[in-house]
Amino acid sequence: MLWNVWMLFFWVVPILGSRGTIDLPHSREVISSENENVLLFKWGYDREMQEISIEIQVPAVNWLALGFSPDGKLETSDLAIGGWDKDDKLFFYDGHIEGVWPPVPDKSQDYELLELSRNKTHTVLRIWRKWFTCDSNDLDIENDTVRVIIIFGEDYKFTLLEENIYRKSFFFLEILNDDIEPEIVIPYEFRLHNFPIPVHDTTYACTFIPMPNVSTKHHIIRYEPINDPNGIGIVHHILIYGCGNNLKFSSEIGDCYGNDPRYAKCMNSMFGWAIGGEVFDFPPDMGVPIGTEEDPKYIRIEIHYSNFENKPGILDSSGIRIYYTPQLREHDGGILMTGIFTFPAHFVPPGAERFRSYGHCNTHLIPKILGHPVEDFHVNTYLLHGHLTVRSIRVMHYRNGTLIGSLGEDKNYDFNFQQVRGLPGIVTVKMGDQILVECSSSTQDRDGVTFGGPSTLNEMCVAFLFYYPVVPIAACWSLVDLQYVNDALELEETETIMDAIININSVDWDEETIAKAQTAVQEAKHTAIINHRTGDMINETSPALPISLPTPFPCHKCTEV
Ligand SMILES: *[C@@H]1O[C@H](CO)[C@@H](O)[C@H](O)[C@H]1NC(C)=O
Ligand SMILES: *[C@@H]1O[C@H](CO)[C@@H](O)[C@H](O)[C@H]1NC(C)=O
Ligand SMILES: *[C@@H]1O[C@H](CO)[C@@H](O)[C@H](O)[C@H]1NC(C)=O
Ligand SMILES: *[C@@H]1O[C@H](CO)[C@@H](O)[C@H](O)[C@H]1NC(C)=O
Ligand SMILES: *[C@@H]1O[C@H](CO)[C@@H](O)[C@H](O)[C@H]1NC(C)=O
Repeated sequence: MLWNVWMLFFWVVPILGSRGTIDLPHSREVISSENENVLLFKWGYDREMQEISIEIQVPAVNWLALGFSPDGKLETSDLAIGGWDKDDKLFFYDGHIEGVWPPVPDKSQDYELLELSRNKTHTVLRIWRKWFTCDSNDLDIENDTVRVIIIFGEDYKFTLLEENIYRKSFFFLEILNDDIEPEIVIPYEFRLHNFPIPVHDTTYACTFIPMPNVSTKHHIIRYEPINDPNGIGIVHHILIYGCGNNLKFSSEIGDCYGNDPRYAKCMNSMFGWAIGGEVFDFPPDMGVPIGTEEDPKYIRIEIHYSNFENKPGILDSSGIRIYYTPQLREHDGGILMTGIFTFPAHFVPPGAERFRSYGHCNTHLIPKILGHPVEDFHVNTYLLHGHLTVRSIRVMHYRNGTLIGSLGEDKNYDFNFQQVRGLPGIVTVKMGDQILVECSSSTQDRDGVTFGGPSTLNEMCVAFLFYYPVVPIAACWSLVDLQYVNDALELEETETIMDAIININSVDWDEETIAKAQTAVQEAKHTAIINHRTGDMINETSPALPISLPTPFPCHKCTEV
């Protein structure tokens, strides 16, 4: 019965192979580690032509579907589906789900079939499409995470079998840096050694580890996660921070957010790995300097464990491996943390479909804290970081109060897929420019206010910007004026931030109060804060910036083929 419906759509099969091969620039492949049935996923794109081709290989089957979803749900997926019918006749179409599986064809067929073939062991599907098809049933391919769903099967009822469904987040428009290998490359490890993971839900383990002992300047050119198999599924993120050199270091492992004040003196992010992250190669003209007077002599490593099953007796030796070289690159790079100062003044009301929070970076404070003029920053790479309520993040670049561009964005942020991403071109940030980080949260599944804090259940909203030339600044972020929000919500007058936080926590949240809080958060002044690598900080009041919501790709401009 179903099959008959499908037969109707044979007309949509386009001419095979009219686009040639996948060999678009940036071609790359990912081999599945999660599902050994799905062997391979390849893609390539052309930025100028705004087109992409994608290939999947699965076991030999009668049909397979490749879905793209903004949120991971099959119902919201844009799908390409193809296979062979009972008479071994090929079918293929661009479809979507109308309530129930299997997909129905879109009115506009925007996927072109490049290859659909099988042999005794494998089936291969290769397709081509434009990033923007102007069909509301297709997902735009932009600078966003895409939840890919691959489904395959044998039977002609298109039965969904969990073991034949494969899901993974991808970022298609990635910029890959050539891993130009200098002649001399030295690996060095920042890792724990058989650390017994506590049985608590959340542990932040911190310790100090010396930098490589080099007496002349070297450049770090690559970071690589060391994922101890014991810790997989529990190690949530690993961060390394450069320390100020005025500390007494020790090697015991402590609680990062406990009583050891030294940890707060090591704030200068050097690298972060989170679930989904991979090896990172710096662009070929940039490396992170080590070995000079100004460079940190120690790092603080922070490993966040989420042991929600409270498994006892697990010994973990995860960490980060760096590769450094004496063959210096053109620029000394660094990483600047921007966004919202991690503190409960950052709040998200419960029951919000989307609540947007903001953090300012006022770069004119950078020369102020350093006490000398500072060159423009050249930003080439970004890493976005929020926790479980965050659905999208934008890093906006302002000059003289006007929005002039983007330093990173993801409309479909995936907490389980935090990736260091290249910008399509270098962005110059002049001292005096402002960087505004916006995180949109969804809290429909929460009863209480979510406050800013380091735990996964609290929120964070930061963007790490990789830039050169490096200055010893760790963070450039801000706190919203919570008194203003307090007053806008007509809450009891307060003197201190802590009282305002208590007030916010006691609001009876509904659509109206959420809307009021949203407006107040957008209008409020901020306390912009700069942290020096040594732990020193200064702050200044910063007026609100004009905010406009992102506009979708203007589809009337689409040139149809
Ligand atoms: C079957 O197809 C796969 C995927 O293209 C290929 O890697 C494999 O070598 C093929 N097997 C044979 C026996 O040709
Ligand atoms: C670093 O190397 C120098 C000379 O090779 C040596 O004197 C010094 O003790 C080393 N420092 C550490 C912390 O190992
Ligand atoms: C901002 O505007 C002022 C006055 O128009 C101008 O002098 C200044 O150079 C501008 N700043 C930047 C960073 O463009
Ligand atoms: C996002 O995509 C647009 C259009 O392709 C591009 O102009 C912009 O620079 C991109 N932003 C980032 C952060 O990659
Ligand atoms: C801002 O700086 C002032 C003066 O140094 C200090 O008293 C105040 O606590 C700082 N505010 C914040 C939010 O750090």
